[in-house]
Amino acid sequence: MKMLSSCGLKGLLGTRLLGSRVYYLDSAASTQDEARAAALSGSPGGTVVIAGTQTGGRGKFGSEWFSPRGGVWLSVVLYPEPGVNPAVLTLAGAAAAAEAVRTVSGLEAVIRWPNDCFVNGSKAAGVIGEKSGRAVIIGIGVNLNVPPCSFPESLRGKAASISAEAGFVIDENRFLGALLRNFEDMYFAAAGNAEKLAGRLGALSELRGRSVNGLAGGRRVEGTVLGYGTDGSIIIRLDSGEQAGFNAGEFKIEKGDAGVRA
Ligand code: BTN
Repeated sequence: MKMLSSCGLKGLLGTRLLGSRVYYLDSAASTQDEARAAALSGSPGGTVVIAGTQTGGRGKFGSEWFSPRGGVWLSVVLYPEPGVNPAVLTLAGAAAAAEAVRTVSGLEAVIRWPNDCFVNGSKAAGVIGEKSGRAVIIGIGVNLNVPPCSFPESLRGKAASISAEAGFVIDENRFLGALLRNFEDMYFAAAGNAEKLAGRLGALSELRGRSVNGLAGGRRVEGTVLGYGTDGSIIIRLDSGEQAGFNAGEFKIEKGDAGVRA
């Protein structure tokens, strides 16, 4: 695995932690596995592993993650403070991607809880969090300059290519810098200013202020999304008036919702 800089690219990136080490692989099975191996062999927090393409990219629930050239496929090694829930870090990864997409393309990217970034109703990026001892490995996959015609049939109409939505090719280095700076800010906020982070995440939510229904913990839920908790949960004001946070579940916008985000 090629290390781009032994003292890190932090100076160029403008980060304090992320990029303490940066490894670039032209092709990898999965950057998650490479990052885990790096952590096991003593790589510090902030280590970033990037691949040009992945042959065994992993999505959530063991799914395959389509990772052709043109996308951004990376994993970050982190050693979060004890009180930080990994779930808020995966949500922050999606938010960091959404903010970076907004910066480089002007598209109104949003986060779809718990760990996706959507553009114009289709998925543009996904995030996965895996534990390895004390380390948490956050994997971020972004369909940045992926030609839409290369998406397999199963992803057509579901996956979004950011360059295709924007109508121009995106500068990958500019995107990468913005993504890592955003993610670092959010990572530090998760430990030091979790309420501020929750506000930043809420501002990017596709569901905030919307009437939703869904299933969570085997229970039918109907209410209005207020935002996210400091642990990465989704906070809903139920139609009964009670306010509740959910760590898992699926929610859909209620038919008839006016569609105005708060
Ligand atoms: C999802 O299912 O939405 C999560 C997708 C996460 C994909 C990224 S690409 C970089 C890293 N390496 C992997 O194998 N998976 C993650």
